[in-house]
Formats: sequence, C-alpha cells, structure tokens
Amino acid sequence: MNLLRTKSVEQSIKDTEEPGHRLRRDLSALDLVVFGIGVIVGTGIFVLTGQVAKDKAGPAVALSFIFAAVVCALAALCYAEFASTVPVAGSAYTFSYATLGEFPAWIIGWDLILELALGAAVVSVGWSGYFASLLDSAGLHLPAAILNPPGSHGGVVNVPAIALVLVVTGLLVLGVKISSRVNAVVVVVKVSVVLLVIVAGLFFVKGENYHPFIPPSEPNPSVKGAAAPLMQVIFGITPVSYGWLGIFAAIAIVFFAYIGFDIVATAAEEARRPQRDLPIGLIGSLVITALLYAAVSTVVAGMQNYKKLSDAAPLADAFKAVGHSAFATIIDVGAVVGLIAVVLILLLGQSRVFFAMSRDGLLPPWLSVIHPRFGTPWLSTVIMGGIVAVLAGFIPLAKLAELVNIGTLFAFLLVSVGVLILRRTRPDLPRAFRTPLVPVIPILSVLGCLFVMINLPLETWYRFLAWMAIGSIIYFAYGRHHSRVGLAAAASGRS
Ligand code: ALA
Repeated sequence: MNLLRTKSVEQSIKDTEEPGHRLRRDLSALDLVVFGIGVIVGTGIFVLTGQVAKDKAGPAVALSFIFAAVVCALAALCYAEFASTVPVAGSAYTFSYATLGEFPAWIIGWDLILELALGAAVVSVGWSGYFASLLDSAGLHLPAAILNPPGSHGGVVNVPAIALVLVVTGLLVLGVKISSRVNAVVVVVKVSVVLLVIVAGLFFVKGENYHPFIPPSEPNPSVKGAAAPLMQVIFGITPVSYGWLGIFAAIAIVFFAYIGFDIVATAAEEARRPQRDLPIGLIGSLVITALLYAAVSTVVAGMQNYKKLSDAAPLADAFKAVGHSAFATIIDVGAVVGLIAVVLILLLGQSRVFFAMSRDGLLPPWLSVIHPRFGTPWLSTVIMGGIVAVLAGFIPLAKLAELVNIGTLFAFLLVSVGVLILRRTRPDLPRAFRTPLVPVIPILSVLGCLFVMINLPLETWYRFLAWMAIGSIIYFAYGRHHSRVGLAAAASGRS
C-alpha cells in the first residue's frame, strides 16, 4: 500500500472526460481575466476591508492588499504549471493524484474542501451584510438576532446567509451553471460598483482620516493567548494592532480577497494558447483586482475614520455615513448580485472536488451518486450545502476566513513544492505552461505562503491541524483501503 501511488495520466483523462465532452480550446486571455474577476471580487473587498482597517491595519490597509497580491502572483505562476501538466480538466487534487501521489493528493483535496466550502460560507455571510443593508435602505429593519452569529452584535443565527446557501445548493442540484455571458454581466456589475466607490468616494475623502497613515502599534487586550498571530507568539511579542505587525496580520486576512484565481488556473486545458494566455489571465486578474482593492480601501478609509468603519457592509455604510444613501443602495444592489455568483462558483468547485475524490474511492461511493434526472452529484451537493449553511449561520466571518486562508495557503505551498519535485522526477511530462525562473519563483512562493500563514492566529493553526488530523484519519481508515488505484494494483498483483 503505497502512499505515493499515482493515478496514470491516461486514467485521469479517461475518468474525467465523458465521450463527446472534451473541452474545447476556446478561451482567450481576456476570457480568463473576466472569469477570474468574476470569482475573485467578493466578500474580501466588500466586507473584510472594513474589518481589517478597523482592527488591524488602519488607513494603510491598501498595503496589505498589495502584499497579499504579490504572494498570490508567485503562487499563481506555480499553480499554472501544475494545472497545465496533466491535460485534464479539474482541480489541484486531480493534478496531484496523477503526479505527486495519492496521499499528497488527498491532503490537497482535503484542503480544497476548506477553501471552497468554507469560502462559500464566508461569502454568504458577507452577502447577508449587504442584503440587510439593502433592506435597511428600503426601510425594512431586520432584528440583529437573525443577522449575526451567536456572540456578535446580539446575534443568534445568521438567517439570510443560511437561506442563500440553501438556495444556491438547490440551484446546483438542478444543474444550474453560470454561463460565461451571465458571468460577464456580473463582472461588469461588480467592477462598476467598485469604480463607483472609488470615483464618488474621492469627493468625500478627508485628509485628516489618513493621519496617521500607519497608526502606531498599540497593545490589543482583546487579543489574548491563542488569538494572537503565530508570529507574535513565536517572537514573544505582546499582541498588537496597527503598525507594521498589524499590516502583516491584515495580509493574512485580506488574502481571502484573492481566492479564486486558482480556479482560473484550472482552465489551462481550455485556453487557446496556454503558455501566453494563462499567465496573462492569472496575473492580469490579480493586477486588476489588486489595483481596485488598493484604491477602494484607500478611498473608504479616507471617507471615515478607520475606527468607525462598519463590519458588515463597509463600502455602503461609508456612503451612508457621509449622507449619501442613494450611492449606498447602488453598492448594496451590486454586492447582493455579485456575491451570489461567487458562492455558486465556489460551491460548484467544491462539489466537483468531492465528486472526484469519491469517484477515485477515497471517499465513499454514495457521495458521487448522480441524480437520474438532473445529472448532478446531488447527494454530495446537498450534504455539503447543509454543512456550509450551518457554518454560515453560526460562525463569525473573520474566524471562517482565517481557516479558509490557512487551508488555501497550505495547498498553494504544496503546489509550489510540487512544481519543483516534478521538474526533477518527471521532466518528460508535457507542460502547456512552464513557471518562469524555476527554482526561484517556487521557492519565493513557498516562503511567501509561509510568511502569510505565520501571521494567522495560533488558534487558526490549531483548527487547521485538527482539520488535517481528521483528514489523515479518514484517509488511513477508509481511502487507503478503498482507493480504486490501490484496489486495481492489488488485483493485478494477485492475477
Ligand atoms: N475572493 C473571493 C471573495 O473575496 C472568494 O469573496
């Protein structure tokens, strides 16, 4: 029973593609950029901006957005090679199974569940903030008890977030996908709203809100024990907010705002000229979003004193604070429309990963049962939808986002190491895209991911390690013995 057994590339292709469904090489660099922005722009910029400026970075939050983008760009260049190594559509899980081996693939797949499923929960919670703000503008005030998780602003359960997850799950069971045309419309809506914030907001910026731009670090008594970032624990620093340490801690949160670019990398096979178009698509969407994020966060922090920014719908609330509710309403509508698409794409990605893991025998077969009428993996979609709904209803957004980030960063780290390993062990594999400057870029990517990871709270590390431990137990108790590759090898060994 070999932990590094691989699934052959031929088998991967055979499993992933039904006859007649070979993906066409149809996507241009521009298509990839549009697709990327559709997935990337979401709760990160619409919600987390306010929270991190308020608690961690102050008006300098834009710097955190830029640093996070650099780490993502390095990872993107590695991800693109990894994704284009195996000519099958799918996720990092599929690629690593065909190259690195079963156990690393399982770990990456298990991490992707954190990224996609929990990510969907985070975006739903973000959506609920804007939904409530929209109702508020219409004169309908929902009680705080049904808008927040327990322990936050008098909350009991976040009902709108649960409702959204359930509706999106229903759509996925019915087989609804976002066509590229709908996605293009959503992108236009989201980008217009963001540009509106930047342009209209500029008129309300007050210079005094930028003084000091990087507020001096101050001890934060509410951050105790395991709530402190690992780096501050390692170096024995009393937990602080603001200052450079605050900016670093903020990077680890706003990293969430870029999640989704890796989904672009998985479109390698569909790109017309992958070697040229993939890096343009990936780096292009990252550069555009980074510029938008830096500009929006700077403008919003200039409109209101950072300590007054709202937690739930900071972009809209900044306009309410300066007495322009009409702008706030437009922003609310844009966010409400735009964030639904992000939840749908994340949950769809999640169900694909689950499906692939179950089809390979690493998760029980009933999870990949296809609905006779709708042709979708309905059971896994419903189960995950239920779990995601509960998480979205009861856990505070920032806690969820931290866990998503650590899982995603770890997957990126493994992918970057994977690029280095595969260049040595399988130089022969065809690669539609090759990472430039190997080994420099993959090594910088690993270091960048690690740096962001150690700026996450110690308690996030505990949760992540617990998640990994559960994953390993499931693998050793179930997947290892039920793996189709393993069973086939055993059978051929006996015959
Ligand atoms: N990057 C996406 C967001 O911020 C997931 O919502």
